[in-house]
Order: sequence, then structure tokens, then C-alpha cells
Amino acid sequence: MELDFGQIVPSIPYILEGILVTLRIVLIAGVLGFAFGIVLSLFKISSFKPLGWLADAYTSIFRGTPLVLQLMLIYFGSPQILGFQIEPYTAAIISFALNSAAYISEIIRAGILAVDKGQREAALALGVPYRQMMWDIILPQALKNILPALMNEFITLTKESAIVTTIGVMDIMRRSYQVGAQYYSYFEPLIVAGLIYYLMVIILTFLGKLVERRMRRGD
Ligand code: ARG
Repeated sequence: MELDFGQIVPSIPYILEGILVTLRIVLIAGVLGFAFGIVLSLFKISSFKPLGWLADAYTSIFRGTPLVLQLMLIYFGSPQILGFQIEPYTAAIISFALNSAAYISEIIRAGILAVDKGQREAALALGVPYRQMMWDIILPQALKNILPALMNEFITLTKESAIVTTIGVMDIMRRSYQVGAQYYSYFEPLIVAGLIYYLMVIILTFLGKLVERRMRRGD
């Protein structure tokens, strides 16, 4: 096997700059997806059925089609949907947030249902209003239980973010691909990209474990 990392060394900082691009997309999309995911999950457990149907249909569509397709629909469809062309970066954040919300809503829904029903009954018996019961009693307990699953989702997003390359976002993946084109050798820069992604996932996993341990301390 012929490997020559020497020649791409000057280009490594260029690839590393992609980390910020990737992280920004994943962080913003993750937060937006989480917020929207909470709303969807509340729809799903609502006693007003049409809200549940709506949220279920949403989840079904976004989980039932490839994320790369959703990304391209939003990017290439924006002139027809919105009347103007959005930036690749914006399209990436929107599609990842919408997609992730579908997955997160299922995680949160399961988390809420897993909270002992005595908590709900006690709150209702004490006359705690529904909203306050959800926010102050049920959701905090649910969140603690689903933290590992949420972290998993975040890691998935980080890896899946490589597909933003297809619409021209200058992420880790695209940068390493470009460096490959420059040196007529793709193998080495792609290995570098792989190492970066792997390291990011290792760090995220570690951070997740840390937060988890902290939250369990109260038990
Ligand atoms: N490759 C899968 C798809 O295209 C991943 C979807 C994203 N997954 C996620 N947990 N947000 O459908």
C-alpha cells in the first residue's frame, strides 16, 4: 500500500477548519431540532387526537425518506418554495433540524411515557396545572432518562452532516475531498477526515457520559 501523508500536511489546517463548519451546523440544528422535537412529542401525547395525527404524519415522512433527499429538496427547492435561493449552510441547518425533530420527538415521547404515572397522578391530585406539571415535574425526569438516546442522536447528526458536501457546504468532508482533487490522491485526506470525525464522536461520547453521571448524582 502506498501512502504519502507528507504531501498533504500543508493542507491539513484547511481540512481542520471544516470542524467549525460541521460543529456549527450540528449544534444549531441539534438545538432547533430538540425544541421542535419537544413540541412534536407534546402533540403526540396530547388528548386532542388531530395534533397527534399531525405529529405522527410528520415523523413518518421525515423518518421514511433519506435525509440527503430532504437536504436537496430544501436546497434546490427553495427558489420554488420561498421565492429565493437559500445558502447551502442554511439549507443544511433547516433540513437537519427538521429531520432530527422527528427522531427526537419519538425519544422524548418514550421518555415522557416512561415517567411513573404516580408522578402525574400526584400532580393532578395536588391541583398542579397541566403546563406546570409538564415543565416542572414530568419533562425534567423524562430528560434525565433519555439523555443517552439524545446524545446518540447528536452523534448521528455529526456523522450524517458529511452529506452537506453534496450541496457544497465547506465541511470536513468536502474540504478533504478538495484536497484529494488537488493532489490527485484522495485516500490520505479522506483518512484524515475519518480520524477527525472519529475523534469528534469520541469526545461527544465522553461529554455525554460526563453529563449523564452528573445528572444521576441526584438519585
Ligand atoms: N442515513 C439516514 C437517513 O438518510 C439517517 C437519518 C438521520 N438520522 C437521525 N437520527 N437524525 O435517513
